Amino acid sequence: MKTPGIRMIVLLILQTLWLGISHSADIASPKIDEEMFKQEEILKSEGEIRPEGYVINRSLSDYIDALPPGFGGALAKLGPNDRWLDIGAGEGQAILDYYNRSDVLGHSQTQERRGTKARAVAISIEDRRQPLWYSTAAGLETNQIQYFFNKRMRDYSIDVLGKFQVITDLLGGFSYTDQLSSFMDKVLQLLDLKGSFYTLLQDVKSEVGTNKPYYENSPYLTEIASADGSEVKVCSWLKSITCVEVTCELRTDWKPPVEIYHVHKVCSTVTVPALTRMSYGAGTPPERRFQLKK
Ligand SMILES: C[S@@+](CC[C@H](N)C(=O)[O-])C[C@H]1O[C@@H](n2cnc3c(N)ncnc32)[C@H](O)[C@@H]1O
Repeated sequence: MKTPGIRMIVLLILQTLWLGISHSADIASPKIDEEMFKQEEILKSEGEIRPEGYVINRSLSDYIDALPPGFGGALAKLGPNDRWLDIGAGEGQAILDYYNRSDVLGHSQTQERRGTKARAVAISIEDRRQPLWYSTAAGLETNQIQYFFNKRMRDYSIDVLGKFQVITDLLGGFSYTDQLSSFMDKVLQLLDLKGSFYTLLQDVKSEVGTNKPYYENSPYLTEIASADGSEVKVCSWLKSITCVEVTCELRTDWKPPVEIYHVHKVCSTVTVPALTRMSYGAGTPPERRFQLKK
């Protein structure tokens, strides 16, 4: 921002907009507004300005390596009437590989096989599509692959997106949202019964509790406190959601370490314990604190 005056006006406008969309109980402060503004700049960043840590083109192999072990098999099993949603897809490279690189899932690369694949939907706040996205889409049936942008996960309705058998989020909205419980609620509305959500978080207190915050004198990247202020592990919060079976696994081969999550929907009356946003610090991914509502 060139002058403090313009910066202040922009912040005031953003504050008004964010107040309109954030939960009224969320902690609001000029500091959080400023951090949200910085985060928006990271999301929009292009070329040399894009921070090194903001990776937007992970391959399907990267997804299979990073996400819980069942993901590759679940994707391989999907048929033409099934649907895969990738939240925070960046360039959508994983979806493009699903169509163009059948060897990754162990199928022979034939036109016939392409025709039996699931439909795939990518969501990204910013439009990161490259020429390969358009050429791949042009070679497939209409809407076989779709790319939605300009909105956050919470702004979509089921009517627009429909239901999915597999949902993934590799350092997308689950890591970046400031509305973690609303985000999870939307994911589970979109997930079909018996469907699976595969995701991860960097630098959190793991279920086994053996890890410390990765950076000395810093907190974990995502923290949840109970209503009385005591620590709640992300895994425990996920496991407290009704109608889901959750597995959590700490992986220390990542730096910082990640905890990987498989959330399997087993019945329909899902209730996600609501969280209040307490603080948010821009980053790749951001630093977030939440507290369980009473
Ligand atoms: C770091 S990139 C990750 C891209 C891709 N998953 C990869 O690993 O290469 C983050 C992605 O998450 C998206 N994102 C962040 N917050 C989101 C939200 N609340 N809803 C939907 N997408 C979100 C961004 O727009 C971007 O596409």
